[in-house]
Amino acid sequence: MAGVRSRTLRALALALLAFPAVAQAVDRPLPRLVRKEGRYALLVDGAPFLILGAQINNSSAWPAVMPQVWPAIKYLGANTVEMPVYWEQFEPQPGDFDYSVVDALVAQCRKNDVRLILLWFATWKNGSPHYVPLWMKQDPARFPRMVGANGRAVDSASPFSRDTLEADKRAFVALMRHLKKTDPQHTVIMVQVENEAGTWGAVRDFSAPAQKAFDSPVPAEVLSAMSVRPRGANAGWKQAFGKDADEYFHAWAVARYVGEVAAAGKAEYPLPLYANAALRDPLSPGPAGSYESGGPTDNVLPIWKAAAPAIDVLAPDIYMDDHAKVERILELYRRPDNALLVPEISNAPQYARYFFLALGHETIGFAPFGIDYTRYVNFPLGAKKLDEEALAPFAMNYRLVAPMMRELAQLGFDGKVRGVAEKNGTPAQALELGAWKVTVTYGVPQFGFGNNPPGNADPIGRALVAQLADNQFLVAGFHCRVDFQSASRQREYVRVEEGTYESGAFKVVRIWNGDQTDWGLNFTSTPQILRVTVGTY
Ligand code: DGJ
Repeated sequence: MAGVRSRTLRALALALLAFPAVAQAVDRPLPRLVRKEGRYALLVDGAPFLILGAQINNSSAWPAVMPQVWPAIKYLGANTVEMPVYWEQFEPQPGDFDYSVVDALVAQCRKNDVRLILLWFATWKNGSPHYVPLWMKQDPARFPRMVGANGRAVDSASPFSRDTLEADKRAFVALMRHLKKTDPQHTVIMVQVENEAGTWGAVRDFSAPAQKAFDSPVPAEVLSAMSVRPRGANAGWKQAFGKDADEYFHAWAVARYVGEVAAAGKAEYPLPLYANAALRDPLSPGPAGSYESGGPTDNVLPIWKAAAPAIDVLAPDIYMDDHAKVERILELYRRPDNALLVPEISNAPQYARYFFLALGHETIGFAPFGIDYTRYVNFPLGAKKLDEEALAPFAMNYRLVAPMMRELAQLGFDGKVRGVAEKNGTPAQALELGAWKVTVTYGVPQFGFGNNPPGNADPIGRALVAQLADNQFLVAGFHCRVDFQSASRQREYVRVEEGTYESGAFKVVRIWNGDQTDWGLNFTSTPQILRVTVGTY
């Protein structure tokens, strides 16, 4: 019996050796999103994974450009790259798919040992249909744009065109089917469906089919998603939503469309899918129309959830350098029904500190935008010049966190991580973790009490505290001091170990004591991880 079993195992091992793709597929489960008590983890290779991401520029996902991409990605230390797939390239003739570019991108990512998130630039790219294939552009009657309230064409595809939707679906299905066949090792871990879907410059579609839908009763799932109980059966959009009717209608139309594309692709290959949002100002949004209408902005997230259930995550693209706004965005997109993911954030250096704030909000990933050396910069949204100096604050983050990315993802999933970013004019911040209060101060000297902290000259400080046990924490940061207080008694640093994670175990490099702990735990620009045991006396 034992002999039979060992022969079978040997045969299996030989088969796996002969077919490495099979071996990897057997070893590597499909990436998936899991939820526990309203918190999320992205499982990659079966364990929580933190996306230390980078998105390349819009026109950089071509094999010829890769030599300008990899040095920036390497310097940054990203573990995941976000790269577009262009519909115009992917389907040059109707039904004729060209997989060569996507295959090259996947191969390049494998070679460079990073994971890949593909961005499906199709019906909507920043609200417009600029990436649809030429044969569609040449047939505007069949693939129409939207009509605005004034009767003029709007530079956004009509979400009521069945032909456009069927074409997008067919191409997306082809992409997902191809990935399933060619990527058993799951280099591709997620796919973004469209890019900032919605419409600039018009609140909704006023074409005849759109108007017909607008004049029909609001679907029950939209009413219930928005917790509206209409007066009378068959409530219309105006009756149900008043001044928000046009915007909510458009959100429903776009979400339903994107949801149908996503569902068709997912039926082929169930990778986690997300849709990204061009945000509205979270504190003073202004009227619809001053921001992109129809996309997953914070006010219509429930409509998107109801109309596009195949989209796993609704994700904010952050280009607002205001601490209060960024914090509010993170709060709005971290919901019991939505994992927080920051798939784009400005690459201007001052945004690097928000990585820590996002970790404190249990993000599953973070990706500065425009990371390559093609010399294109989206200033003033991003850095004026993209070089190592500009990337350094982001690279520091990733170098610090990379060795413990799995542990951190698990701790976030368990609700044990807190993170802060310095705020202009607020030189001290407080965190609560179990029985401990943790204060983070900025601009104090490393030696001495540091009363009345002045803050850093620029708000570049950030800190991370994760609870390992009642009295044990991981602590890291840049340009700040972290200190612990107990409510009842005086605090003692029982043991402060500097170290790093290797294969899941914390390896101590040295113990901090004396000047290094007498005034609190002081962090400079050097990546340092501390395992801190606190006590009281
Ligand atoms: C957000 C979009 O999603 C990106 O593709 C890019 O256009 C940036 N805005 C601006 O550079």
